[in-house]
Amino acid sequence: MMKLSKLATAVAFVMAGSAAVAGEVEVLHWWTSGGEAKSVGELKKIMQSKGHTWKDFAVAGGGGDAAMTVLKSRVVAGNPPAAAQIKGPGIQEWANEGVLANLDAVAKAEKWDSLLPGVVADVMKYKGNYVAAPVNVHRVNWMWANANVLKKAGVASAPKTWDEFFAAADKVKAAGLIPVAHGGQNWQDFTTFESVVLGVGGAKFYQDALVKLDQKALTSPTMTKSLETFRKIKSYTDPAAPGRDWNLATAMVIQEKAAFQFMGDWAKGEFTAAGKVPGKDYICAAAPGTGNAYTFNVDSFAMFKLKDAAAQKAQGDLAAAIMGNEFQEVFNLNKGSIPVRLGMKMDKFDDCAKLSSKDFVDTAKSGGLVPSIAHGMAVSPAAEGAIKDAVSQFWNDDKISVADGVKNIAKAATTK
Ligand code: BGC
Repeated sequence: MMKLSKLATAVAFVMAGSAAVAGEVEVLHWWTSGGEAKSVGELKKIMQSKGHTWKDFAVAGGGGDAAMTVLKSRVVAGNPPAAAQIKGPGIQEWANEGVLANLDAVAKAEKWDSLLPGVVADVMKYKGNYVAAPVNVHRVNWMWANANVLKKAGVASAPKTWDEFFAAADKVKAAGLIPVAHGGQNWQDFTTFESVVLGVGGAKFYQDALVKLDQKALTSPTMTKSLETFRKIKSYTDPAAPGRDWNLATAMVIQEKAAFQFMGDWAKGEFTAAGKVPGKDYICAAAPGTGNAYTFNVDSFAMFKLKDAAAQKAQGDLAAAIMGNEFQEVFNLNKGSIPVRLGMKMDKFDDCAKLSSKDFVDTAKSGGLVPSIAHGMAVSPAAEGAIKDAVSQFWNDDKISVADGVKNIAKAATTK
């Protein structure tokens, strides 16, 4: 039996060892809905299993605008969190401020370059160095439908074109149910808008108008048609839509109060958390006219420069965990997205995720893969914010003519 004095030394050694490596990670995110909270809970568990302390910094508000405002004030005060959910071109802006940590040591050890699609790795790097770790791939151009509601309304299958969609929506209305569950917040208006533009104009037009911000495309008849279609959708929403959170809109579809919702596949996280099965209880289909296209939205965590050695170690472990097999599977099963890490087995994933995975690969080849403007993937945060406001004003104010809506959006797109 080990002598007590020896045991005490051993215990002291282990404790000193763990004190040197265990640190705290403060993680800023906006994952507060049922499905989202479950997903981020998995990351917390993994970090805790490595002996680290998880400090949750959740700022409610779908789409993350509120979280970004809070983040700015923390960084300006010289007190950034270890990691924050920052995406797309926003990563470059933060890196340019000189506040992000270099993650190359972890990235090299974990072979990120060979595990990520090149387009994703590029977004995670600033001047060739990794400054962020990607979590997933969300598809934004989805239409969610309640199977029973469609049955009750006599809609045989998910509409594939906007004409079919409006015919189906009329039937749902006639059956006394709400055709479209919408949450009237600017980013949700914008999310619906980008799917309409993609469906009406196709991927090439979307790329010209909403990624390149080409004025000719932005003022074209296709944009006019897009705004007409967008406005028409509003007449199928209920009067209580303004201000509603996206997950409450999803709940309306889950609870058979509404037929459809246009939302990214974080909505699937809500169906999953409610125990609903795709193909049986609900349908996931590409938004009308967008079957051959894919608006991608990659969530990622940028890491901030920290001074404390234990905190740095915890931060490195967080980055490694995010790209690890275990996290990529369990997180995405709950979140509704698909793993961003290449070569992952998809057998535990449902049919919607399998379709997303297949379409991601297919559209990357065909040119149908485009970045989501409503979710921080396509343009600078300043231009995105201005266009989002113009789109939302148009949605909310029926007195703005389609011609003026087109003009306002085109003007907003010149914001630098
Ligand atoms: C994020 C998702 C999140 C959604 C709703 C999106 O911008 O990428 O992870 O679930 O907003 O909050």
